[in-house]
Amino acid sequence: MTARLIDGKALAASVRAETATRAAALAATGRQPALAVILVGENAASQVYVRNKVAACEQAGIRSIHETYPAAMREGELLARIHALNADDSVHGILVQLPLPAHIDAQRVIEAISPRKDVDGFHVASAGALLVGRDGFRPCTPLGCMRMLEHIGMRSLRGLHAVVVGRSNIVGKPLALMLLEADATVTIAHSGTPDLAATCRGADVLVAAVGRPRLITGAMVKPGAVVLDVGINRLPDGSLCGDVDFASASQVAGWITPVPGGVGPMTIAMLLANTVQACETA
Ligand code: GUN
Repeated sequence: MTARLIDGKALAASVRAETATRAAALAATGRQPALAVILVGENAASQVYVRNKVAACEQAGIRSIHETYPAAMREGELLARIHALNADDSVHGILVQLPLPAHIDAQRVIEAISPRKDVDGFHVASAGALLVGRDGFRPCTPLGCMRMLEHIGMRSLRGLHAVVVGRSNIVGKPLALMLLEADATVTIAHSGTPDLAATCRGADVLVAAVGRPRLITGAMVKPGAVVLDVGINRLPDGSLCGDVDFASASQVAGWITPVPGGVGPMTIAMLLANTVQACETA
């Protein structure tokens, strides 16, 4: 079998167009959605991510407030800045780019963001809301994964087994809860799971989010399964690859996401959607 491709780039473009329409409707009533993006320090990868987020906002008609601070910024100054943005009614979303410099407690900074403006969905209140099935912002990458499943006609996962390989607080764990909410039977595994291959072969929906290049091979995929690859790994030769060995897995899977051009572009699209939602519900 040769898998069908889930084109994240195309789907993200349509989510972004939809979001732009909603943003324009808000702007027409005098409420332009706005996202504050804060970068501390000079991490090169973070600078690229932040630039991409700011550019995506502009394209969608979302005002962006781009603030950059030196690596030596004190935690107290950053917290004060967040408090000011919390109090500013013209700002609907606040995003602090991670990682932060080591002398700043990232969790304390995230918890300082008002949950009503936590468009990354990283606040403990957002995580708790997801756990108990209440409204709140969902983290963008897992949300993008769910949107991809919907796109291929899998809104309900009743009767299906989903396996998430990876247990991070921002992808694996929240995604497992979202899959559960869609009625899947869910297993969270990780790189230390005994007989990971057999666990993966039981999956109708297999998500790899471990950060290990090409860990998931075709021999670990159930024929016809949906394979979502959240991994983005840089190889020694400078090229990018996912956590899934695309060449072998695509021979077995029914659907598969490429890297790049799969889950990655969905993350920014869902960030924009969360920001517009924050403005709609403000
Ligand atoms: N660093 C890497 N990914 C992310 C993300 O999705 N949000 C934030 N705030 N920082 C990140």
